[in-house]
Amino acid sequence: MNVHVGENDISHVIEADKAHIWHHLTQHKKFDDQDPLIIVEGRGLRVWNQAGREHLDAVSGGVWTVNVGYGRETIADAVRDQLVKMNFFAGSMGTIPGARFAERLIGKMPGMSRVYYSNSGSEANEKAYKIVRQIAHNKYGGKKNKILYRARDYHGTTITALSSGGQDERKAQYGPYTPGFIEVPHCLEYHSQWGEVDDYGLRAANAIEEVILREGADTVGGLILEPITAGGGVIVPPAGYWERVQEICQKYDVLLIIDEVVCGMGRTGKWFGYQHYGIEPDIVTMAKGVASGYAAISCTVTTEAVFDMFKADPADPMSYFRDISTFGGCTAGPAAALENMRILEDEDLLGNCEKMGDYFVEQLEGLQAKHAMIGQVRGKGLFCGAELVADRESREPVHESVTQAVVGECFKADAVVIGATNRSLAGFNNTLTFSPALIATKSDIDEIIASVDGALKRVAAA
Ligand SMILES: Cc1ncc(COP(=O)(O)O)c(C=O)c1O
Repeated sequence: MNVHVGENDISHVIEADKAHIWHHLTQHKKFDDQDPLIIVEGRGLRVWNQAGREHLDAVSGGVWTVNVGYGRETIADAVRDQLVKMNFFAGSMGTIPGARFAERLIGKMPGMSRVYYSNSGSEANEKAYKIVRQIAHNKYGGKKNKILYRARDYHGTTITALSSGGQDERKAQYGPYTPGFIEVPHCLEYHSQWGEVDDYGLRAANAIEEVILREGADTVGGLILEPITAGGGVIVPPAGYWERVQEICQKYDVLLIIDEVVCGMGRTGKWFGYQHYGIEPDIVTMAKGVASGYAAISCTVTTEAVFDMFKADPADPMSYFRDISTFGGCTAGPAAALENMRILEDEDLLGNCEKMGDYFVEQLEGLQAKHAMIGQVRGKGLFCGAELVADRESREPVHESVTQAVVGECFKADAVVIGATNRSLAGFNNTLTFSPALIATKSDIDEIIASVDGALKRVAAA
């Protein structure tokens, strides 16, 4: 492997980082006496740090993003070729990669038809909220403007995206929030809010109807859900849930927004997470895996019926979607996304994801049989989680320091980077998360599992 790490002294980079970078989600005091980690190079599932140490990345760039793996020269070439030809024009005009990627994307999403480009998952969701709100104004006299979100889900970091966030620790201290966002209960049966119920999926979906009726159906315009909750604990909705959610949305004329920012582009073994459940959303948002982090791009995709509402009355100068995202006009995003999609198809990475995902879950279940600390294993495709508990009977979560100790052990002992729910839910930052690139092999997975096995042993003994 042709890796160049260590050839040059980059101590000045570390000093510059220490002096000037404000790292995401990081308490900086620790850098008083330790260096930040600088990731210098990546190939496949491996990354190298400033000391030349090789790491196995089991979380696709930390936040389930690099779906096709590191070092893809064909994506870099596609982006370069596009940039020297035409790098940017505002999205009120068209571009060649923008139109071509939209056509290819819609080909993977039967029932959907329009693509609105922006730059981040948060922004894609903000667009969805603006669409719901403007429809409320144009069609329902402004009244049907409330948007429901689910406890434990996350939809982004901007103030309004956080207003729709179901994670108390992410939200704390950043309010006041945008009005009109209302929480519905989560659907994690392992921590059932209703004790033991026969049909938890139906019960959890019916809870959404209860909120709609409480708020008044004529005030609720949208419902946003992750197909499989990511940072809130890798929650795969129970059987029957989605069918009932779809029925409820149709019954009360509530637009269903599916946040595919994590699940999108093959992460769960299908192009999109919602496609496991046969549901028909009105709006779908996506970001991370769209270009696997080779360029910034997000999409808000709608049905033609939603789109039509914004062109119905050309005589009204206020009725079209009056939104712009400057960098939504960058061509690097769709150019990278086109090549990213070609790779996913030509290398059958969805097929690999499904197969390796099953293998990953099996191996995690093997660990569960050995380690009392693993209370439940959850996942679909290469999107897996293991919830750690102090007591299997009561399902009491371990303290987050224990979760972090397991993550730290994998990192220190084996240079394996795994994830964990982090500063999300008070008392429930206890799920280990795994989302390797979709090129992962059995031997990569074995290496990750062996590392977690050793880490759990050492942490339990300590
Ligand atoms: C489900 C989900 N939606 C939205 C977002 C926000 O995406 P971004 O960080 O690109 O704004 C995230 C980020 O982790 C996410 O997990």
